[in-house]
Amino acid sequence: SASGLVDRYGRTATDLRVSLTDRCNLRCTYCMPPEGLDWMPTDEVLTDDEVVRLIRIAVSELGVDEVRFTGGEPLVRRGIVDIIRRTAELEPRPETSITTNALGLERMAPALAAAGLDRVNVSLDTVRREDFATITRRDRLHDVVAGLEAAAAAGLGPVKVNAVLLRGVNDAHAPELLRWCLEHGYHLRFIEQMPLDAQHGWSREKMVTADEILASLEAEFTLEPAEEPRGSAPAELFTVDGGPATVGVIASVTRPFCGDCDRVRLTADGQVRNCLFAREESDLRTALRSGASDTEIADRWRVAMLTKRPGHGIDDVSFLQPTRPMSAIGG
Ligand code: GTP
Ligand code: 5AD
Ligand code: SF4
Repeated sequence: SASGLVDRYGRTATDLRVSLTDRCNLRCTYCMPPEGLDWMPTDEVLTDDEVVRLIRIAVSELGVDEVRFTGGEPLVRRGIVDIIRRTAELEPRPETSITTNALGLERMAPALAAAGLDRVNVSLDTVRREDFATITRRDRLHDVVAGLEAAAAAGLGPVKVNAVLLRGVNDAHAPELLRWCLEHGYHLRFIEQMPLDAQHGWSREKMVTADEILASLEAEFTLEPAEEPRGSAPAELFTVDGGPATVGVIASVTRPFCGDCDRVRLTADGQVRNCLFAREESDLRTALRSGASDTEIADRWRVAMLTKRPGHGIDDVSFLQPTRPMSAIGG
């Protein structure tokens, strides 16, 4: 019975997000504390062979056709180029992408493209050097800018930029960031902050909402809802000054898109998460390491989808932030 990853609400996951590490070389204030976190023990992290085997099962038995590599920061994973090469060699070939902070991308972009990587999304919250250093606790804006340029030059596009706005830090600079992305040909998307920080400091009042983001952009640009169908994409798109350029808003909190979700996640330690906000995970690592067959693993993965809830429930009184932070899920 060759069925895919279908949940109880009729959604089918075809977009696999694979976290390759929980480690990161930045320390964004809205993500982790300055000293970092207790990283996963090495023996619990899947090996390159184990990661590729699970991706192969997802692609050949479970209908996955897009594979996105995330972290932490995926480029700090030693085997990333090889993992991407082996993923791009699978049949049918999945679309491959990474979500990265772009540190090291300047050096690695050509090898990533040669290995078969199709696209990159880069996290960049401001183009002001001092604000960048405040938000990420590292003075590395220059490396990110160079990484973006290298990605575009290597053909890893369309290159997207993801930005989180923080009240009182970079929220007044949204138009400036959009102008910069338009000049450089990057597709910018603003993301509403979600309750996934390691410090559990998120609050609805501090979050900058999609309405606020759009209002601040409209002070300097004319935005119109874009015509193109959104499908399962998290971003709502708006044409800028008549187009063709667009800007996106990922309004996970105020305008949830869970009903169209087509995602499933694999953590670096081999757990399937059917949602960013899932309360429970399914352990594929133990199955892998105890000699399970491909068919058995595929069956476990299908079963893991049956507890996927209809929505994230951030607004429910009973909402509980997941214990696993964003950096160990992969966004
Ligand atoms: P493409 O549209 O294929 O380029 O990628 P993407 O936007 O799905 O991937 P990316 O990793 O760039 O995600 C950007 C942001 O969207 C993430 O950091 C999350 O904030 C948000 N996001 C991605 N997937 C989900 C999801 O399943 N649920 C929610 N609520 N937010 C998500
Ligand atoms: N809510 C929304 N986005 C977040 N990111 C990190 N933490 C959060 C959060 N709590 C973003 C990063 C990056 C992407 C992987 O997720 O800025 O763009
Ligand atoms: Fe690293 Fe991303 Fe967390 Fe920033 S948000 S510290 S880049 S994992």
